[in-house]
Amino acid sequence: MPLGDADARLLAAARRAAAAVNEERFMRRIEALAQIGGLPNGGVDRPAFSDTERAATDLFAQWMHEAGLTVRYDRFGNMFGSSDGNAPNVSVAAAGSHLDTVPCGGRYDGVIGCIGALETIDAMRDAGITPTMPMEVVVWRAEEPYRFMQGRVGSLIFAGKLATADLVHRGEPFDVEASLNADGGRPVRASGRTLVSLLELHIEQGKRLQDAGRVIGVVTAISGTTRLKIAVTGMADHSGATPMELRHDALCAAAEIVLAVEQAGLAEPMPESVATTAILSVTPGAMNVVPGSAELFLDIRGTETARIQRMVDAITEEAEVIAGRRSVNLAISSLTRGTPVMLEPAMVTSIERTANALGYLPMRMASGAGHDVQSVADRTRVGMIFVPSKGGVSHAPHEFTSSADIASGIRVLAAEWVCTSLQVHDCGTG
Ligand code: HGY
Ligand code: MN
Ligand code: MN
Repeated sequence: MPLGDADARLLAAARRAAAAVNEERFMRRIEALAQIGGLPNGGVDRPAFSDTERAATDLFAQWMHEAGLTVRYDRFGNMFGSSDGNAPNVSVAAAGSHLDTVPCGGRYDGVIGCIGALETIDAMRDAGITPTMPMEVVVWRAEEPYRFMQGRVGSLIFAGKLATADLVHRGEPFDVEASLNADGGRPVRASGRTLVSLLELHIEQGKRLQDAGRVIGVVTAISGTTRLKIAVTGMADHSGATPMELRHDALCAAAEIVLAVEQAGLAEPMPESVATTAILSVTPGAMNVVPGSAELFLDIRGTETARIQRMVDAITEEAEVIAGRRSVNLAISSLTRGTPVMLEPAMVTSIERTANALGYLPMRMASGAGHDVQSVADRTRVGMIFVPSKGGVSHAPHEFTSSADIASGIRVLAAEWVCTSLQVHDCGTG
């Protein structure tokens, strides 16, 4: 519900919640989380299903408990802090993000969305605002494709769009079900709790806000991510005794495919249409053996399905030509199929008006990064707020967003979420 149209009482409550956002409190929590999985270079390494992930979620659970929330989990380990005592069969206004990171990632990606949601609960209490609709702070598990080749795993499993049996492990496989069974004792979120709205505050991870001199971004679309695996099989051979013209070098073929992937992305005019060879592995990887096989893992994205498909087709076609020319075999398999999400215009307008009512000048923008809200966007009113990333850097130790910009983002999140949580009984019944 747009703040600008809300009645004076809602507007006053939203402004009071925003004014109660406490920079010292939320920065102390961001710093505390950054120590869990913290690296000497200032980065953070906190993969899903690791001890550091467990320590971070346990610390966050303690903070939620101290904030008066009832902490519950679903079977996959998504964590929910509810304001209404985890009652069954209710509609819920939620906000949250993720606490897991990419390898050697930054301290703000995902974290500010979780911290911002929790800060809103504390700010509402400080401002004496009681929600009339149940609110939930959500920490989605395994958002980053670190443990698995798929991203947004927790929110996709929550939405019934992915099963643990379909997970493609990155690195040492482990028994996910056994790990979940071992966590079986955690208190379970009640059934029938329906997310009717979900907000996410996130760093932009690009530099458009910084370049435009803006602090608040309102997300209009979120890229879909298609991930492919290309296995190249050539012929391992002696690197000294095999003449060049007799080789079937899998790495040379893979190298040409890497450039074809880059070319497919460059050929697309939209900035959100991108294609990356993110991982390349070579076997046997010995100093005196012509590489016999190579595996490429591709990350292909866009905000339009047709453009994603066009890049996939161009890459597949060129890889087949390269393989034919080099007499190597190819096996191309799909890991994820990207579904771009257009956010509901009414939600975009509502967040824009909220930001304006708080004195900010918001900027509409698409997100090239994927986010958990897109996993439930087909059944829940979702909204996303961005704050600037310094230099556009993210997924790296020097990822940075100022505490002032984080505070601005949390104020807009708090105001929008408060209005939603006070809406239900004000719409019609009074
Ligand atoms: O991959 C993404 O876009 C996000 O950072 N998980
Ligand atoms: Mn990320
Ligand atoms: Mn993220």
